[in-house]
Amino acid sequence: EKGTYAHFMLKEIDEQPFVIRNIIQKYQDENDDIKLDQEVRNALNEADRLYIIAAGTSYHAGLVGKELMEKVAGKPVEVHIASEFMYNMPLLSDNPLFIFISQSGETADCRGVLVNVKEQGYKSLTITNVPGSTLSREADFTLHTYAGPEIAVASTKAYTAQMAVLSILAMDGARATGSSEEFNAIHELSIAANAMETLCDQKNIMEQIARDYLFDAQSCFFIGRAFDYHVVLEGALKLKEISYIQAEGFAGGELKHGTIALIEDGTPVVALSTQEHVDANIRGNVQEVAARGANTCVISTEDTQKEGDEVVLPKVHNNLTPLASVVPMQLISYYAALHRGCDVDKPRNLAKSVTVE
Ligand code: F6R
Repeated sequence: EKGTYAHFMLKEIDEQPFVIRNIIQKYQDENDDIKLDQEVRNALNEADRLYIIAAGTSYHAGLVGKELMEKVAGKPVEVHIASEFMYNMPLLSDNPLFIFISQSGETADCRGVLVNVKEQGYKSLTITNVPGSTLSREADFTLHTYAGPEIAVASTKAYTAQMAVLSILAMDGARATGSSEEFNAIHELSIAANAMETLCDQKNIMEQIARDYLFDAQSCFFIGRAFDYHVVLEGALKLKEISYIQAEGFAGGELKHGTIALIEDGTPVVALSTQEHVDANIRGNVQEVAARGANTCVISTEDTQKEGDEVVLPKVHNNLTPLASVVPMQLISYYAALHRGCDVDKPRNLAKSVTVE
């Protein structure tokens, strides 16, 4: 039920802080340690490389998951688009574990890969929001994202829930490998949940940004570097699928290799800068596009340099910045679509669960 909300999407965006708190509860034991099936833990620890397989928004969560697992747990990870992996399988390591990330657990492209790797005798884990789903039943192990039913076609809370579960796995993995990247995911997730709540309370700001940048826009570029690059891919996907504005996410450094040719007077460019080590670089990119007439909007953190008006994210652990930074993008997309008269919850040509190849 939507309750007082005009759309499921807005309701589901608002539910995100509660979903994260719910995940904390489900994955924490009475000693405040991580609660995980020993079998799952063993499978993760014994694998020499993790292969994350997913589509769409879940693929974007996988990209963030890879960074977390590699940085925090020191575990090598590859992330693949399911439909690509299916027909163009890369070389595999000696002892891979396949991780399928899927909100619905029904995505046919993922299932194709699962059937294939099972035939080859490899172990598999599904991270899903629907535990009884096909991918969940057919994989060796399942982890639940506990986001509750997601009705809007555009995925929001499932995405942040997937990243939260992945951050917990990264922390658990760090303990196993003795990695020195100290990161108390459980504690930091609760701070991130509060940050998300603060951002959800800033709807008027996000609506104003949508008004200023997107109500009449034909296209919009999202730029970011490092961790932020993965999140801008998701920001662009959200905007295009519900508002039908041509939107693309780019690595900031790639602009000059082609894309900058598209910048015209008034082209909206949303830049995400949460990573101190590339803050100066992304701000350089913002100046490059602004000098060519772009209408730039910067989303940043308290730690980075400010130039004029910016959306400033509340402080969260660096590893969890995507949980906070995606919220303004979800809200901006929502208001852009709403004011352009689009069917927010049921965008044209899209299905919630893609059960055909
Ligand atoms: C985007 C969206 C899709 C799905 C994709 C995978 O908002 O909803 O890109 O993320 O179809 O779906 P699941 O996660 O169910 O496998």
